[in-house]
Amino acid sequence: RVPQPCALVVFGITGDLARKKLLPAVYDLANRGLLPTNFALLGFARRDWADQDFAELSREAARKHARTPWREEVWEQLAADITFVPGSFDDDAAFDQLAATLGRLEGSHGIGGNAAFYLSIPPAMFPTVLKQMQRTGMAESTPERWRRVVVEKPFGDDLLSSRQLNELVDSVFSADDVFRIDHYLGKETVQNLLALRFANSLFEPIWNGHHVDSVQITMAEDVGIGGRAQFYENTGAARDVLQNHLLQLLALTAMEEPVEFSPEEIGTEKLKVLRAISIPEDMETFAVRGQYEQGWLAGERVSGYRQEEGVDPESTTETFAAVRLGVETRRWAGVPFYVRTGKRLPRRVTEIALVFKRAPHLPFADTDTEELGNNQLVIRVQPDEGVTLKFGSKVPGSVMEVRDVSMDFLYGEQFTETSPEAYERLLLDVLLGDATLFPRNAEVEASWTVIDPLEEFWAGTTPHSYRAGEWGPRAADEMLAAEGRRWRRP
Ligand code: BG6
Repeated sequence: RVPQPCALVVFGITGDLARKKLLPAVYDLANRGLLPTNFALLGFARRDWADQDFAELSREAARKHARTPWREEVWEQLAADITFVPGSFDDDAAFDQLAATLGRLEGSHGIGGNAAFYLSIPPAMFPTVLKQMQRTGMAESTPERWRRVVVEKPFGDDLLSSRQLNELVDSVFSADDVFRIDHYLGKETVQNLLALRFANSLFEPIWNGHHVDSVQITMAEDVGIGGRAQFYENTGAARDVLQNHLLQLLALTAMEEPVEFSPEEIGTEKLKVLRAISIPEDMETFAVRGQYEQGWLAGERVSGYRQEEGVDPESTTETFAAVRLGVETRRWAGVPFYVRTGKRLPRRVTEIALVFKRAPHLPFADTDTEELGNNQLVIRVQPDEGVTLKFGSKVPGSVMEVRDVSMDFLYGEQFTETSPEAYERLLLDVLLGDATLFPRNAEVEASWTVIDPLEEFWAGTTPHSYRAGEWGPRAADEMLAAEGRRWRRP
């Protein structure tokens, strides 16, 4: 489906996200023929660029990060529809100019007044920008035109501030016109989780606490914090990715089948899970934070978090978090959901692993089962997208020796289609007005209800340290060992 004629207005077009994700996504959409013929991209940012410099910057960004092959003619056609509006967010005149430009494009580009506004800016700027949009009447949807707003995470930094943010956004845009981006929901494998569970009959009967011993959700990154010290220092791993990406993965893993594949029904089921999450009573053991020290990664020496540029040498911000959560529903009562994330871990990998209970009894006499672990179903979100089933098999030979083997489904082997980058998919959905893959207000607030007590417990404490290139602090291993389990080594 191709969206209706429209404009995409990006606030903060010269920022990191716009360069690495949004501009390439727009190019990829154009390249796949998924943008309407009448389309305009407006970039708004503080920097005083000439149109020409801006065109060059966008081209470079798109070319470098695009997922589809580069075709100069596609870019040139798109570039003709790009306009740069310089100005600061508190500058009334700049917003008047933006409104006027939109009005002008309505006629010259035939965009019919439809527009999506992407807030790719620090949350502290949201109030100013939203008020400007309200003042100039830009935010108003009418029967003739739609106006939508895209809000990037973090959605606040605790329950209270997220409520305030939601109230603010809702006072300017109507709820149906607000799209909160959690880019993990745009990932192909995350969407496949729903297909895997609800399009097959094989998995659902065992997808519960009768058969599942525990669930492990890992989002590991080998990178550090890059140039984002200022943001990260005030955020930390739990607020940065646990509150959103990881809890969304948990919700999709644990939720019941939605009545239909609609934003309302999926949202309702996810919300039930988020509301049913329990946090550990013994936080000392089951809520662990860590911070990386200098170490080695891929043969290179990397510095510790406290030595990163822009980081307080005595910083207590965590770069690793691991928590044991529960989901208090009939399906999941008693099953621990171990969730962990960290920077500067040995490799970049995100996966959801269902670890099954062991067979209650092995009927073979003298069986050698030393190398037999629990059966596992692993959904590999990235990289090497796919699904792996781990189970025991007899080792060929005259004795009964059982050992773990695995059965792999790899996207790259089964499909020739390339998956769209998450932002490409989500941007298209915004223009189409499809909110299925966007968390709703209530989900965001329910997620903060999980995070707030953890943050409260951690406040004033120093995170455990771990060496860059290791799988987090020892306390994270002890957390599972306390219950006789071990983390997977993905
Ligand atoms: C972002 C976080 O939401 O997700 C970053 O702010 C993190 O800290 C990034 O690096 C990871 O995204 P991806 O798609 O590369 O796994």
